[in-house]
Amino acid sequence: MRRGRCRPAKLHHAVISGPIDVFRSPHVHGMPDVVPDRTQRRTSAVSSISITNTRDGYGLIAITLHWIVAAAFIVNYALIYWTQWYVEPRTEEYFGLLSTHTAIGVSVVVFVFLRVISRWMQPVPEDAPGTRLEHLGAHAVHILLYIAMFVTPLTGYFGQGGPSQLFFAIEIPSFQNTWLFQTVIDGGLGISWESWEGVMDYIHKTIAPWVVGLLILAHAGAALFHHVVRRDRVLIRMIDPRKSSNSS
Ligand code: HEM
Ligand code: HEM
Repeated sequence: MRRGRCRPAKLHHAVISGPIDVFRSPHVHGMPDVVPDRTQRRTSAVSSISITNTRDGYGLIAITLHWIVAAAFIVNYALIYWTQWYVEPRTEEYFGLLSTHTAIGVSVVVFVFLRVISRWMQPVPEDAPGTRLEHLGAHAVHILLYIAMFVTPLTGYFGQGGPSQLFFAIEIPSFQNTWLFQTVIDGGLGISWESWEGVMDYIHKTIAPWVVGLLILAHAGAALFHHVVRRDRVLIRMIDPRKSSNSS
């Protein structure tokens, strides 16, 4: 499906405007579907908060989920390297920080699922102004980031020998003690825990940190480039849901 087109709208564009909540949708009320001026630069103040995406920008749901997942990734990177570089291995502090890393990691998967579902249910905003090559590059990085958002935490969990705490409260057993591993992977495919763990660890600790780290740097760098050099609304519309309506 072409980017920028509304999917069969399961979630209409909802806007909270002024002192009372008003949910309005151009589709519902038969208003014309205005395509925004894509060369528009950062402009004046706006008064409405968009809950869902519009063709012109991201709504509150997408923005909140984007920054929860982004923060979890950035914190988890910082946390694990801090632990590895500055904390004595196998001490109480080391294991405490490691279990914080695994707890954030397993919890982020829930938000990644919500993010994918919410993206599928909403219109996708129009591309920011730019060349065809820039659009292709941005789409490729976004797709790779979506893959990374699953692969990084899941390979961490799949290779983890001990339990993890979902939302720091609910204990998730080690993957090696699950039915899936014992019956299908070990029992059915004959792959031992040692071989399985080796592959998962290699992806999680060797490939992912570099590949995903570079993707995040390129992605955040591009957002800053838009903001500082191009002075357009690309970064702002991922921060401020009031900037996602056509009038913004
Ligand atoms: C947002 C998700 C996650 C990110 C960004 C992330 C990132 C990383 C990074 C960058 C490393 C260091 C690799 C190295 O040794 O150079 C690491 C190590 C590790 N991760 Fe994750 N991880 C995530 C989720 C998880 C999850 C869900 C688990 C397990 C349930 C996990 C378990 C581990 C373990 C056990 C290590 C090795 C720590 C050590 O040996 O000191 N990670 N992770
Ligand atoms: C400081 C760090 C970050 C900044 C400044 C940033 C900024 C942005 C901006 C401005 C957009 C909108 C791009 C557009 O309109 O075309 C965006 C989208 C996106 N970001 Fe980030 N981001 C950051 C970190 C991350 C991280 C860590 C991840 C994933 C692990 C991520 C994943 C995504 C994805 C998948 C999209 C596409 C959203 C969609 O259309 O569904 N971002 N980001």
